[in-house]
Order: sequence, then C-alpha cells, then structure tokens
Amino acid sequence: KEIPISVFKSLPSTNTKAKEEAISNAVHGTVIFSDEQTSGRGRFGREFFSPADSGIYMSIILKPNLNLSSSVLVTTAAAVGVLKALDKFTDEKSQIKWVNDIYINGKKVCGILTEAVTDFESGTVESLIVGIGLNVKTKMEDFPDELKDKAGSLLLNQNDNSIRSQLAAEIINNILSISENLENKEFLKIYKNRSLILGKQIIYTKNNKVEEACAHDIDEFGRLVILKNDGKIEHLSSGEVSIKNI
Ligand code: BTN
Repeated sequence: KEIPISVFKSLPSTNTKAKEEAISNAVHGTVIFSDEQTSGRGRFGREFFSPADSGIYMSIILKPNLNLSSSVLVTTAAAVGVLKALDKFTDEKSQIKWVNDIYINGKKVCGILTEAVTDFESGTVESLIVGIGLNVKTKMEDFPDELKDKAGSLLLNQNDNSIRSQLAAEIINNILSISENLENKEFLKIYKNRSLILGKQIIYTKNNKVEEACAHDIDEFGRLVILKNDGKIEHLSSGEVSIKNI
C-alpha cells in the first residue's frame, strides 16, 4: 500500500504541521517528515532537540476508529513499532520506559508525542498524530548541556544517509500495521518484555505529589499498573515515571 509522505527540509514541528493536515482531511497513514525542526515539541511542553541531518523527526496521522481511551494504546503500539525497527538496525538492546520513551544503555534515544485532533462540536477524536523523534546520527557533543547525561543517539553509520530513510520506512510500516490491529494484543507482550521499569521501584507524580510504588504490570489498555507500598493497586494512564535511585 502506498503511503502519502511529505518531506520537508525544515519545519517548526512535524506534529503541528500534521495537525493542520489532519484538519484539512489528510488520509489515514499520511506522514510528515522533516530534516530538522526549529521548535520540536516533547511531552509536558518540553522542547525536543531536532538538529538538521541528525535524526528522524516525523508524524504519522492515524484515522482508525478511535476513541480517546485508545490513545495510550496507540502510543504503546508506536513504541513497539520503533523498537522492532531498532532491533533490525542495531545490535544494542533497546528498552521502553513507560509510556513512550525508548532507551539504549540508560540513555533516551527516542521520544513519542501522541496528540489527538478532536472535532470541536462533537468532541470526538478525529485523528491521532503520532510524532516520533529518534536520534539517529546526533553526536553526543552536539547535545545541549542539559541533555548530555540523559540523551543518547544510535550513532548509525554517519556516512550513509539512506539508513535514516530505511529506518524511517521500517518504523512507519510497523506502526501502521500494529495500530491497524490494536485488538491483537501481541504487541503488548513485546512491550512488557522490553520494559525498562517493570518490577522496579518507581517515582511518579500525582496531583502534584511525588509518590513511590512498584511498577507491576501494563494492562490491556496500555496503562501502567502500580503496586503501592500500602498494598493498593492503581492504574496510571498518563504522567511520567522515573526509576528510583537512577
Ligand atoms: C518526548 O520525548 O517527550 C516526545 C518527543 C517527541 C518528538 C517528536 S519529533 C517529531 C514530532 N514533532 C514534534 O514537534 N514532536 C514530535
């Protein structure tokens, strides 16, 4: 199946562009790709460092039969799509930090920002924009100081530009096929197997309070199941967690 893909040299943010396209009736599976982003966005209003000729910065517009509750699951599916592609292109073991970050050797190499485009009147979700930022060739010394300890890069063959497009194509195909079959929960098994946090003590924030719990499981909706120190179980569907003592 042919995928409509627009490639830009520079954009403020592929997610922002994809949202505009989604509103003006882009078809399911449309991809917006940019060689650099001047205001790449991360979760929680953070910036995503997106220098030219260094990474994969792209957004996929999904228009399956969606409801808001599947958006966590789509993000989960996207993370597995990236992971499977990475397995083909590197020997390093990549792991997923719930909900959407991919780590190699303790460093974040990829972030995913899923945003919903909702119909103003009915409030229903019309499209989901899955934005993927993957550091493919970014050199460690080029990361801004505040990212130097946290961010990583695949450092794939610096001289081979086609690798980036092959990897991007693999990611797109994986994400489309997994997200078109969300009822097939096979991908959740991979997600759990390659989780960086399951079984570990984690720190998370709820209602502006920092709490601690054990990351126990991922449920069928992609939510994180945590076991609190008082023995209670909770299901988190958003937020950010960090591993204790790391
Ligand atoms: C995160 O780590 O918090 C998510 C980062 C998502 C970055 C990607 S790059 C392509 C797309 N366009 C954006 O502005 N953000 C996403």
